[in-house]
Amino acid sequence: MEILILESAEAAETLAAKLIANRITAKPDLVLGCATGKTMEGIYDRLTVMHRGGSLDFSGVTTFNLDEYVGLEPVDERSYHHYMRQRLFDRVNIRSANTHLPNGAAPDLAAEAREYEALIKVAGGVDVQLLGLGSTGHIGFNEPLSALMSRTRQKALTETTRKQNAAMFGGDFNAVPTRALTMGVGTILEAREIVMVVTGAHKADILARATEGPISSMVTATALQLHPKCVVVIDESAAEHLEGLAYYRWQFHNEPEWEPYR
Ligand code: GLP
Repeated sequence: MEILILESAEAAETLAAKLIANRITAKPDLVLGCATGKTMEGIYDRLTVMHRGGSLDFSGVTTFNLDEYVGLEPVDERSYHHYMRQRLFDRVNIRSANTHLPNGAAPDLAAEAREYEALIKVAGGVDVQLLGLGSTGHIGFNEPLSALMSRTRQKALTETTRKQNAAMFGGDFNAVPTRALTMGVGTILEAREIVMVVTGAHKADILARATEGPISSMVTATALQLHPKCVVVIDESAAEHLEGLAYYRWQFHNEPEWEPYR
């Protein structure tokens, strides 16, 4: 794992977008794992700008999203299906047949989860997985005590997560579904590269636990410490509680790999 500290949330989002664009340019048929949430909005905005400027072609790209709320139809404006269409899919030249999210309204959710895993396999696996970090330390919707080897399945959401995500439900956390279909931690770890983006002082504590704390299913993002190619892109506010700051800064400013991004 490497942690890249940028001066602002905007700079962190820009770096993440550039990294994704670089991977798409290097492999036009990239399989991109997409995340949702506020942090991702700026990244999708920047990818859209690059596409409109002519420097980024999504025509060969395939996407798999991490998760969807159980009980919401894909057309529901509060669904992640809708979020993705609005934030990315309808703004770039991706083929809609190449975009995938689990269907939280499927009649048989266990079968839907199995099929989702099978689809990822058929696509050749995820090349680059974008991730945000939830307040409970979750990746996808893998709430505390999710098995670190879990696969796509239904997961009950904590009250903390439902409160964090209430904005899309008119601010009422009681209106937020109690369950979600989510890629498992094991599914996420199979991505060949992982890019987690975390910004804001409100995430500083959980980010320190996720990156520097002991590996535990209580904070499922800690499983990323096992991944051979994981970069965590953050801003100064999210960095506040990290112990290894000086080393992370040195790496970012000296490692040749990051030269194009400095
Ligand atoms: C939701 C999503 C996560 C996302 C998290 C962080 O819970 N399931 O994939 O990472 O929100 O969201 P935000 O970026 O809004 O803080």
